[in-house]
This record gives sequence, C-alpha cells and structure tokens, in this order.
Amino acid sequence: MRTQVVIIGSGPSGLLLGQLLYRAGIDNIVLDRSSKEHILGRIRAGVLEEGMVGLMEQAGAAARMQRENLPHDGFDLIFDDEVHRIDLFGLTGGKRVHVYGQTEITQDLMDAREAEGLQSFYEASDVRPHDFDGSRPYVTFEHDGQDHRIECDFVAGCDGFHGICRQVVPDGAMETFEKVYPFGWLGLLSDVPPVHDELIYANHRRGFALCSMRSKTRSRYYVQCLASERAEDWTADAFWDELRRRLPEETAERVTTGPALEMSIAPLRSVVSEPMRFGRLFLAGDAAHIVPPTGAKGLNLAASDVHYLLEGLRDYYADGSEAGIDAYSQRALHRIWNAERFSWWMTSVTHRFPDMSGFDRHIQRAEFSQLVHSKAASTVLAENYVGLPY
Ligand code: FAD
Ligand code: DHB
Repeated sequence: MRTQVVIIGSGPSGLLLGQLLYRAGIDNIVLDRSSKEHILGRIRAGVLEEGMVGLMEQAGAAARMQRENLPHDGFDLIFDDEVHRIDLFGLTGGKRVHVYGQTEITQDLMDAREAEGLQSFYEASDVRPHDFDGSRPYVTFEHDGQDHRIECDFVAGCDGFHGICRQVVPDGAMETFEKVYPFGWLGLLSDVPPVHDELIYANHRRGFALCSMRSKTRSRYYVQCLASERAEDWTADAFWDELRRRLPEETAERVTTGPALEMSIAPLRSVVSEPMRFGRLFLAGDAAHIVPPTGAKGLNLAASDVHYLLEGLRDYYADGSEAGIDAYSQRALHRIWNAERFSWWMTSVTHRFPDMSGFDRHIQRAEFSQLVHSKAASTVLAENYVGLPY
C-alpha cells in the first residue's frame, strides 16, 4: 500500500488531521490499535474553543455540533463559598466556548471519514513507523492476522501519550519536561440536568470540585481525589455526597443526583516533549504534551497542533516548500507552553494541595481576590480560557 500521510491514532487529533488533509487533497490512512467502540467509550473533554469549532467546520464535520453544542459566555469561580462569575464574552470582546463532548467530536469525525470512503484500520496491532529519518518512511502493522506495510511521505504520530510514536524517537533526540500533581480527578457522568447553566469551578477546604455538562440533560461532575484512589472504591452516592459538601449550600441543594453512566479517575500532570518533529515523523496532541484538565485545554491543544501541521503539509504538497513543516514544532510549542502555563496556574489556584501551609492558602485567597477586584486579572484568565489565537 502507499499513501501520502500515515496517521497513527484515531483520537480527535488523528481524525481531525485526516479529514483536513483529505479536504486539502492529501491522501491519508488512519491506523488505531483500539476498536471504534472502545475509542467512543472513553469519556474525556467537554469544552471547545472557537478555534476547534472552526477546524470542525473546515473539516466538513460540524453539522451536528452546530445543532447540539451549548455556547457558554462565562463560568463561576467559587472560593470557600464566595462566588465570582468570569464574564468570558464581556472580557474578551465577544468570544465564548462551546460545550460539546469529545465523544461526539470523535463520532462526527469518524462518520465524516466513513462517508468519504477513506481508509482506516482499527484494531491494528504492532503498528510501527520506520525510516522516518530518511526520505522514504513506511509503517508496518498487523490487521486481521495479516502483516501490512504502507509506504508514505510522512507519518503523523497522533497516538497519545502511551503510543508508539514517542517511543520510536531516537534516544537523546527528545527532551521531556514534566510535573506530576499529588491528586487526581474522580469524574461522574449522569443523565441528570446540570446544577447550573454555566460551569462551576470550586476551590473548597475539602478539595476542588467542577460542575460541568454535556447537554441540558447530561451532567459531568468532578471532585479532586487522592492520586492513589481507585474509582471502583467509590459509589455514586458517595460521589454525590462529596460533591455537595464542596459547593455552597444553595447550589448543593439544587444538585440533581442519579445513577452514574461512568465513573473514572484521571491523574493530573503537565508534560511537554520537545521538539515535535523528527525527520518525516511529526508528533501531535497528547503524543507530545499533557496538561492537567483544569481549564479544558487538552483537546483544544491537540486541535491547534493539527492546524499548524496541516498548514505545513499543505504548503509542502502545493509548492514543495518545507518552511511550514520546518516551523511546525516551534509554532506548536509556543502555543503549547502558553496553555501549559495556564493549566498549571488554574490547577494551582483551584486545588487543595496536601502539603499546603496557611501561607499557601492565603496566597490562593489573594489570587481569587485579585480576580474579583481586578478586571485586568480576570481578562488574562478569560483570554486564556477561550483560547489564545493560533
Ligand atoms: P487520544 O485521544 O489519546 O488518541 C490517541 C489514539 O491513539 C487512541 O485512539 C489510541 O487507541 C491510539 N493509539 C495509542 N497507541 C497506539 C499504537 N501503539 N498504535 C496505534 N494506535 C495507538 N481534556 C480536556 O480538555 N478536558 C477533560 O476533561 C479531559 N479529560 C481527560 C480524561 C482522561 C482520562 C484523559 C486520558 C484525557 C483527558 N483529557 C481531557 C485530555 C483530552 O482528552 C486529550 O488531550 C485528547 O484526547 C487528545 O487527543 P489525541 O487525539 O491527541 O489523543
Ligand atoms: C470539563 C473538563 C475540564 O477539564 C474543564 O476544565 C471543564 C469541563 C468536562 O469534562 O466537562
């Protein structure tokens, strides 16, 4: 087999890149080690920046999103029961975010790919890129008991943090910067109406809580937990009790509880690997970086990587220019570090750290107070939350 770009990974970054390349006239094949059902069963991000929405439109996969997404013009920040609304729309000159789940994004992109009859291999095992340091890379894998080899011009490593593409980078060619946080998020998804029509981020003595949603009838809630805890040790009832304890009384009383459709724990960490290009292999999305989820940047960063990579590959195929692919890593990393800073900061001011001193707690309170009293401070938060320009 031969194609122009082999995309390893069928998460949002791989599927979005595949669709955008196709619309730019560039052939591609998507490979994933998991089944479609498994990929669609993972409950992850829920808040989209306008940049991501624009890319879905460019990919020709935005019709359902345009009908079903919930635009959000602000969110509540709560510190020890004191509520402050961040007016995203007002502070950013009319920008907002859109609530639409990663599962739906992935489904829409898979449907678009299928409608165009583009080639994908799910449940592909032993996927491996070769010779990407030369001019004729290829990818091997096994599928349905048969060995396959695809010759290509480029390989896009969109296979997440535990994928193969990070692993095949030669020793010493990549530097990784990492910060691990001493807690995780326990998430619960339930078919109950959200407690509020906007998101609520709460810093409470007992730990962080987030009230989010997927639709007007489906809620997504999180509570900070120990990194060592296991979701199996929690019941939905225990979750609801803990969530309500971390919210102001009048909000807690309005929480509608129900059975859990899903409950899982996500560890929190910040990771950046540099550079993101190794000859004809590019890393994009979680394959190159992880942010703690506070501020919902993970999926949106994957989208901006895809945007820069698309521009580079489009120029290469249009007129042979390598300027765009040469600049890919640097352009993407500039935005990544800004989002890393924001996600780290938002995590730092909203969570309860196990070794926190009285001094640290007062500093958190002062940060909150500055957001309440300074329009400049709130504007910085709002500009980052809606997404920095590409
Ligand atoms: P992924 O979605 O991870 O996709 C990678 C794909 O590559 C997968 O389908 C995988 O099966 C495939 N793959 C892996 N290895 C191989 C291999 N060797 N061969 C072939 N295929 C392979 N972000 C937010 O903004 N908000 C959130 O609330 C949030 N919650 C999260 C919860 C969890 C548990 C996790 C892990 C992430 C969460 N994120 C969240 C981050 C966000 O979901 C990711 O940033 C986003 O999924 C990145 O997309 P991606 O396509 O780069 O990677
Ligand atoms: C969600 C996750 C986040 O990390 C966030 O900041 C907002 C919303 C969510 O899963 O809905």
